[in-house]
Amino acid sequence: MNPFYFVFGRSANMVLILIFFFCPVSPSYGYDPLDPKGNITIKWDLLQSNSDTNDVKVSLLNFQLYRHIEQPGWKLGWEWLGKEVIWSIQGAEATEQGNCSRFKGGQLPHCCENKPLIVDLLPGAPYNIQTSNCCKGGVLSSMIQDPTKYAAVFQMNIRAGGAADSDFDMPQNFSLGVPGYTCAKPVQVAPSKYSSDGGRRWTQALGTWNVTCIYSQYQASTSPKCCVSLSAFYNDSIVHCPKCSCSCQGLPGSKCVKFGETPSLLQQVKDPNQEPPSIVRCTQHMCPIRVHWHVKQSYKEYWRVKITVNNLNILKNYSGWNLVALHPNLKSLTQVFSFNYHPLNQYGHINDSGMFWGVEYYNDMLLQEGEVGNVQSEMLLHKDEGIFSFREGWVFPRRILFNGDECVMPPPDDYPRLPKNTARAASFTLSIIFSPLFMLLIIFAC
Ligand SMILES: *[C@@H]1O[C@H](CO)[C@@H](O)[C@H](O)[C@H]1NC(C)=O
Ligand SMILES: *[C@@H]1O[C@H](CO)[C@@H](O)[C@H](O)[C@H]1NC(C)=O
Ligand SMILES: *[C@@H]1O[C@H](CO)[C@@H](O)[C@H](O)[C@H]1NC(C)=O
Ligand SMILES: *[C@@H]1O[C@H](CO)[C@@H](O)[C@H](O)[C@H]1NC(C)=O
Ligand SMILES: *[C@@H]1O[C@H](CO)[C@@H](O)[C@H](O)[C@H]1NC(C)=O
Ligand SMILES: *[C@@H]1O[C@H](CO)[C@@H](O)[C@H](O)[C@H]1NC(C)=O
Ligand SMILES: *[C@@H]1O[C@H](CO)[C@@H](O)[C@H](O)[C@H]1NC(C)=O
Repeated sequence: MNPFYFVFGRSANMVLILIFFFCPVSPSYGYDPLDPKGNITIKWDLLQSNSDTNDVKVSLLNFQLYRHIEQPGWKLGWEWLGKEVIWSIQGAEATEQGNCSRFKGGQLPHCCENKPLIVDLLPGAPYNIQTSNCCKGGVLSSMIQDPTKYAAVFQMNIRAGGAADSDFDMPQNFSLGVPGYTCAKPVQVAPSKYSSDGGRRWTQALGTWNVTCIYSQYQASTSPKCCVSLSAFYNDSIVHCPKCSCSCQGLPGSKCVKFGETPSLLQQVKDPNQEPPSIVRCTQHMCPIRVHWHVKQSYKEYWRVKITVNNLNILKNYSGWNLVALHPNLKSLTQVFSFNYHPLNQYGHINDSGMFWGVEYYNDMLLQEGEVGNVQSEMLLHKDEGIFSFREGWVFPRRILFNGDECVMPPPDDYPRLPKNTARAASFTLSIIFSPLFMLLIIFAC
């Protein structure tokens, strides 16, 4: 499903309901126009195969432009078709050994579960159990942010564990163990080729299977995680995040901690292998992340925007965070101060979206709520003749995504207005333009 809809702020909830109603299982589920090919591929290479023992190399490749896997990391699962066991493993480990009582005496297998769950090793794991590209605690960076850290690799020795079986049976029902990802069935593809001498001679796997996993924000969580507030130098009023963007104070199940108070010890208890509980400061929007877009200054040829990201989560640091923005003037972005930037122009000439992320060791970690729980940057954009305008909220972003999840925008009618203008007429036109578009989008999403 298309996360587009939040652009329309106020109606977002209604649209969500509509979408869940009309297209619970649509083929385009998870489709993202900013990253249409985005997926995580699990590549399974069968390297050696004897009657009872197989060597397998498994690679997890994050082919998403901006989404990443953060702590507590991936937890890869599958289901064996027979009685296979993981005899040994390098570069990762199974969370449970399971019932290995049928292997009496001698060495026991690493894992005898029918549905093993594999996790990455932590950084600094002993050298003899590492593989190249392992041991990142399950964290996978996005392609753009750090192309050297987008993959994880581990190797296993698998034994059929019983009746000798000549053919290797590819396991089924893969899962990544990260909310929002759904994996398709394994597909046998052309075997991977390897060269150890720089390309003079190639060897190849006996068989290679791909499993493609796709992300859907709405499968990860039915409520948004982020909202946007707006302001401009030409208008004193700040347009806050829409009320109840992520949750409402006082709703059953919604918890928050008032400013100045600390959460009780019970709430702070956490398991490092689990996603930390989301405990936010009490605000009218109840979002863990707020992005503020301030139109700061106008020069003759340029205009300046200040972006601030506030973490309102009391117990969570976001490492390697990223922000995606959609604005037509990004095609004339001239300078970004203190964030990294990369354009995401998927459609060639339409250069209207880009990704921001922190500078390593400076602001790549968005710290938990508090005085230092924010990151900020400014950017300069060129005023392109013919399209630039301070009118009709043109200077505000069309969409904002934090860590790949759509942020709730204020409704266009509320955008800060220029003093003494014809804003009433303008915003009226906006709503008219938006509503049919709206219905069209819903039809496309299904
Ligand atoms: C997954 O992403 C890769 C890299 O962008 C792409 O080549 C491949 O076609 C994608 N797979 C699917 C099933 O979309
Ligand atoms: C362990 O597996 C054996 C057979 O392999 C079975 O007889 C036994 O009941 C199992 N034990 C448990 C606790 O499941
Ligand atoms: C995969 O899971 C589905 C539902 O959870 C189940 O019906 C199916 O039998 C499983 N397939 C295999 C090969 O285990
Ligand atoms: C299988 O995955 C690899 C990534 O390791 C990719 O290069 C290849 O294009 C994929 N093949 C298919 C048919 O999707
Ligand atoms: C977040 O990072 C800060 C500074 O590194 C650290 O003091 C704090 O304990 C971290 N918080 C969590 C929840 O990990
Ligand atoms: C616009 O897209 C081109 C690639 O088509 C890219 O090289 C350029 O940096 C982009 N410009 C901006 C300002 O994003
Ligand atoms: C600022 O914008 C708001 C709309 O968000 C508008 O109601 C108000 O009149 C504007 N203020 C001035 C001084 O124009």
